[in-house]
Amino acid sequence: MKRGVLVTGGAGYIGSHTAVELTEAGYEVIIVDNFSNSDRNSLEGIRKITGVEPKFVEADCCDKEAMRRVFEEYEFDSAIHFAAYKAVGESVAKPAKYYRNNLLSFINLLELMLEYGRKNILFSSSATVYGDAEVLPVTELTPRKPATSPYGNTKQMAEDILRDMVAANTGKLCGIALRYFNPIGAHPSALIGELPRGVPNNLVPYITQTAAGIRECLSIFGDDYNTPDGSCLRDYIDVVDLARAHVVAIGRLIEERNKQNYEVFNIGTGRPVSVFELVHGFESANNLKLNYNVAPRRAGDVTAVWADTTLANEELGWRAERELIDTLRSAWEWECNVRKQ
Ligand code: UD1
Repeated sequence: MKRGVLVTGGAGYIGSHTAVELTEAGYEVIIVDNFSNSDRNSLEGIRKITGVEPKFVEADCCDKEAMRRVFEEYEFDSAIHFAAYKAVGESVAKPAKYYRNNLLSFINLLELMLEYGRKNILFSSSATVYGDAEVLPVTELTPRKPATSPYGNTKQMAEDILRDMVAANTGKLCGIALRYFNPIGAHPSALIGELPRGVPNNLVPYITQTAAGIRECLSIFGDDYNTPDGSCLRDYIDVVDLARAHVVAIGRLIEERNKQNYEVFNIGTGRPVSVFELVHGFESANNLKLNYNVAPRRAGDVTAVWADTTLANEELGWRAERELIDTLRSAWEWECNVRKQ
């Protein structure tokens, strides 16, 4: 029988790509999603890509009784928790919404895992925990900085909740936090991808929507940073590479190859790319011109952050493989395809 993996938020951007990679690696995926920031079509995309109908429960992870029914009904010993809100600006305006959703859902899941004897958990963390780091690239030992938004704080707090619950339940719970850098792009089939609701906050969806004529003009937030071309530096990681990191991390827990009961890994490429480089890379990858201008800095942005990926490379045996140009092509193909669906 195939091993089951519960994937909360599995209809979302990173969750759907991970569901595909897990299915292709031979796992049985059980998705829980409430479509609060995702689309039903992604389930159809997963089915088309893999040829397997994903098991699916429509539920809010904050609803513990609904989650309990998932535990009663399905066989799995591992879970990946993606379900969370992720808009930085909104979290500043509505902190309680973020703390309630992002923390309660995770605590429910962890408590149910303990209650039902399910051991392995992966948590979606973020490079946001490093803030404005003094030394780059950041390693997993780089100290975390006080969060600058409630969203960022939920990532730090959830990491700590996981660490503490693992420590209090030796032998019963093992966890890995994956700190994602900037996930971009889409599956090469263009059947799943990122689908922001309303005006995108993140760079690549804003670029693709500008290229598609949905947005008039991309604003580049600041060209006066202390970087080679004045724009911010980030570590843009292909979403399929990122999804594969989950497959190897969950395998590490299942096969008990983890060295500690709670581990943390940076998941990035190790390569800093500026906003201008990304914009021009998108133009040349897709042979088009983008309408953009330079705007003032965006509040809360850090100048530069990119990953030291040595630990993930050596311990997980994982590294980012897809070329940036292919990732940027996939982002555009998805943008063109999604409007036709
Ligand atoms: C943001 C969040 C981070 C979150 C991640 C994924 C902040 C401070 N951080 O990362 O916590 O995990 O998204 O959801 O918000 N840019 C433009 N024009 C745009 C949009 C972005 O120039 O229209 C620039 C930004 O200034 C930044 C870069 O593009 O330099 C990347 O921005 P974005 O995609 O929003 O990601 P982060 O801010 O790095």
